Amino acid sequence: MKIEFRTEPLSQLSSPALAAYCFEDAPSGSGTVERLPAEVRSQLHQLQSSGEHTGKAFEFTILRWPAGLAAAKILLVGAGKREKFNPSLLRQLAGAAVRNLRARGGKQLAWILGNDDPGALAAIVEGALLADYDPDRYRTERNGEKGFDNFWLATGGEAVPAEAEAALARGRILGEAQNFTRDLVNEPSNQMTPTQLAERATEMAARFGLECEVLGPEEIQRLKMGAFWAVARGSQQTPARLIVIRYTPAGAPEQPVIGLIGKGITFDSGGISIKPSENMHEMKTDMAGGATMLGAMQAIAQLKPRVKVICLVPATENMPGGNAYKPGDVITSMSGKTIEILNTDAEGRLVLADSLTYAQQLGCTVLIDAATLTGAVMIALGNITTGVFGWNKDWVNRILAAANAAGERMWQLPVDEDYRELYKSSIADIANTGGRYGGAITAAMFIGEFAGDTPWVHLDIAGTRWANEEKPYRAKGPTGHGVRTLVELLTKFVPES
Ligand code: BES
Ligand code: MN
Ligand code: ZN
Repeated sequence: MKIEFRTEPLSQLSSPALAAYCFEDAPSGSGTVERLPAEVRSQLHQLQSSGEHTGKAFEFTILRWPAGLAAAKILLVGAGKREKFNPSLLRQLAGAAVRNLRARGGKQLAWILGNDDPGALAAIVEGALLADYDPDRYRTERNGEKGFDNFWLATGGEAVPAEAEAALARGRILGEAQNFTRDLVNEPSNQMTPTQLAERATEMAARFGLECEVLGPEEIQRLKMGAFWAVARGSQQTPARLIVIRYTPAGAPEQPVIGLIGKGITFDSGGISIKPSENMHEMKTDMAGGATMLGAMQAIAQLKPRVKVICLVPATENMPGGNAYKPGDVITSMSGKTIEILNTDAEGRLVLADSLTYAQQLGCTVLIDAATLTGAVMIALGNITTGVFGWNKDWVNRILAAANAAGERMWQLPVDEDYRELYKSSIADIANTGGRYGGAITAAMFIGEFAGDTPWVHLDIAGTRWANEEKPYRAKGPTGHGVRTLVELLTKFVPES
């Protein structure tokens, strides 16, 4: 999709469609409809006063051959109550306009700008890109093929200031990064093997000028990553990979070095503690944490914040092969801590444990992990909100603030010494499960045991990784949730001008 500014007067802008929004509660309508010429404005007001268009959010009405305009039609978009209007809604409205037109075979839309600040502008662009995504890659007659050609930002005759161009670029970078994450998550596990995930990461890194290194089974064992290896050894087909990507901008301070660690289980069968077959196919998405981190890396490689970042993605299947680890086994993690395996389906925390140890060895001074870690977090928060965990108040708060600014729902759940006894082991240092009660908390705390004194924040995205329902502004399927928050957090480290 091409995204560009159009600076001709609105009346002269020739496009198959122009989108304008109006609010619900304003008496004679208001919103970008007010920027249209008087004649067409009164037509739109008629639609509103007759109740044909109420202005409720995501309500769409089409007005054909509007008087005095070069455009073939106007897509009138309901923007809801004015006092509830914000950049997040704007992102969704722009996206919904794209999907609404696409469903009727449209491929071009000019979105009339209001008094949008750079943040709002970026959100519009991002929304259009996110909306144009469809997960039906392998269908021979694809919706995705119906992709949009042009999304124009119509200034209505005004020139485009440099900061608006920069906002467009930022919106594009963010939208593309999330779609990259969604693509990775969407792939079935016979395609998205650990090898393939590493290849996609390598490609991305090369394209955006990041340093990338991929470790294989020999190196993983040589590094004594006993916990990661325990999970990996049950899979025959596809050798495990540890993906390491470095972003080292010139002139960045020595510290902090942010570690972004993403769970990369390309298929989670549960292992010997095998999962029930119902919904097991969803476990192709168990590398969403890794995909989130790779998406965030793609964005920051282009946005260039002044901070060092190292991304680690331990990638493997969790399979019940003849060589698989078994319940009751005791393994030694890279940190030296011994772990009793009570359930081989609690594999995410194991691959993350060793990755956290390695991240500290590589010099990370802050650890942020994202993982589809527990069913329990979905019981607690549904699939709307990501669970946030960590001992370090400062970094937890930074994440929560970034999520809030980025318009992603995240919510802190507690970690507390009192939960520790739930994952005690009678034979080893700790056990890999803490039972059903507080399952998201004990899983998070298990990972935290491997962070040492390094500030650490854990994001449990088991619920938010995937949308079970379509929305007006996005397809059902992979969401890319988390990318925006991490990029928001990291771009707070402002580049030196
Ligand atoms: N990958 C799953 C968690 C999950 C469940 C993600 C549903 C997305 C949707 C994880 O590896 C797992 O199996 N967790 C177990 C832990 C239990 C064995 C302690 C769970 O949540 O049931
Ligand atoms: Mn599992
Ligand atoms: Zn898993």
